[in-house]
Amino acid sequence: MSHKIAIIVGSLRKDSLNRRVARSICAFADDLLDCGIVEIGDLPLYNQDLDTDPPEQWTRFRQAIAAADGVLFCSPEYNRGIPGVLKNAIDVGSRPYGQSVFDKKPGAIVTASPGSIGGFGANHQIRQAAVFLNMPIMQQPEAYFGHVSDDSFDESGCLKDGPLKDLVMVIAGSFANWVDMIHTSRRLLAEDSAHAAKQREHA
Ligand SMILES: Cc1cc2nc3c(=O)[nH]c(=O)nc-3n(C[C@H](O)[C@H](O)[C@H](O)COP(=O)(O)O)c2cc1C
Repeated sequence: MSHKIAIIVGSLRKDSLNRRVARSICAFADDLLDCGIVEIGDLPLYNQDLDTDPPEQWTRFRQAIAAADGVLFCSPEYNRGIPGVLKNAIDVGSRPYGQSVFDKKPGAIVTASPGSIGGFGANHQIRQAAVFLNMPIMQQPEAYFGHVSDDSFDESGCLKDGPLKDLVMVIAGSFANWVDMIHTSRRLLAEDSAHAAKQREHA
């Protein structure tokens, strides 16, 4: 089992803590998930007028998400909410109406912050959008990582041993299981209905 995962990082900062957490999740789930970060910093601001002739950056982004089996959001909180750059990416992927690339994609939401509430506000704003986007989002364990700092990582960008690393490992494993469960259930349901249709044909 290896599922292709598109990771969307809600920070453009070179030394982003969230980008480093995202990389750690990839490393911990390496045998189960084929992860890649889909960059969002170059996406022109969403404008419905452009839907008829979309910028190539929008097309690249939409294709990358469409090709994935699941989506992992790793984001900071800005002013108790979702960073604008991430909201823009979500809006770009959700349109044109009826062609959202997020539809039915299993996902998980991780927020990391030096603050003590771990980006709870941003986490739930992403979750709110995901409801409308019809994404089955992993409910538990929740991932609000507080008190994250440069000191949480070693020189090579790996998480140092400790409670944060333990939590991130749990999230990585749970997310891999979540994505696999959704895809396995869908496959079994499709096989069941194909089988039932054949039986009806021969009845
Ligand atoms: C514009 C702005 C707003 C912020 N607002 C919050 C906030 O509401 N809650 C919080 O925990 N941290 C907030 N922070 C601090 C970020 O959590 C911190 O800069 C973090 O390192 C950003 O994530 P990154 O390292 O992935 O870029 C804010 C930072 C910026 C630049």
